[in-house]
Amino acid sequence: MEVLVKEILAPGIVRLVVMAPAIAAKAQPGHFVVVRLHERAERIPLTIADFDRTQGTITLIIQKVGKSTALINQLQSGDSISDILGPLGTPYPIEKAGTIVGVAGGLGAAPLYPKVKALYEAGNKVIVVLGAQKKEMLILNSELQAVSHQFLVATDDGSFGHHGLVTDLLTQVVESEPVDEVIAIGPVPMMDACCRITGARNVKTVVSLNAVMVDGTGMCGGCRVTVGGQSKFCCVDGPSFDGLQVDFAELRQRQRYYTDLEKSAYQNFCKENEECRCHAK
Ligand code: FES
Repeated sequence: MEVLVKEILAPGIVRLVVMAPAIAAKAQPGHFVVVRLHERAERIPLTIADFDRTQGTITLIIQKVGKSTALINQLQSGDSISDILGPLGTPYPIEKAGTIVGVAGGLGAAPLYPKVKALYEAGNKVIVVLGAQKKEMLILNSELQAVSHQFLVATDDGSFGHHGLVTDLLTQVVESEPVDEVIAIGPVPMMDACCRITGARNVKTVVSLNAVMVDGTGMCGGCRVTVGGQSKFCCVDGPSFDGLQVDFAELRQRQRYYTDLEKSAYQNFCKENEECRCHAK
């Protein structure tokens, strides 16, 4: 499948617009795809950050965090991806719910965008809280601002917007007005912290979980999470779940299983790759 457009959004983060008419025709907010760069490549799940049914394209946003994502980041316009499986997962229900707060940390902006865009178009009042470590790592600012009635930004180092965490801004919002639903997407500790804030006020909160995935179709069990005391598979039951019911402690533990393997694969890749300028070299 051909890469039509490549754009660098931030250091280590790229946006690819890929020709995939069959997927674009069925894509809905909340869906994801499993990408395999070539026949022997690792299968990696990526959210569908946007889609255009008329053009037959889907948009993928990728952050370089390991060997496979580093290889995908090197793709250029005109290159192709061997296969893309999807759309996968359960779509996010788009309804008129009232006031909705979307909170995104880092790359969480990618899965948040199609949801808040659809919720905005459905007539909801949308407040977006976007956060990153520093100004240059903020992504989709203008896109998210265009589909929100209020747009708030936080950076860890204070280089843009509020100097602090997205959870500071979320607390201010839920204390200042009635909120019907919060969507929190980002690193697991961030989503956990958001759910503690909203859970204390009994505000419905949906999170999008980035559990380790292999097949993406419910067969391998790799993406198992516990929600409300029951085992669920992120790939078929999610990736969106009731955040107030998620066992975040277990999720953090499962995400650490492959950390050492991922790190050594990335370090080996960096040593072998002349163009790599990352810290692992
Ligand atoms: S990725 Fe295999 S069961 Fe979900």
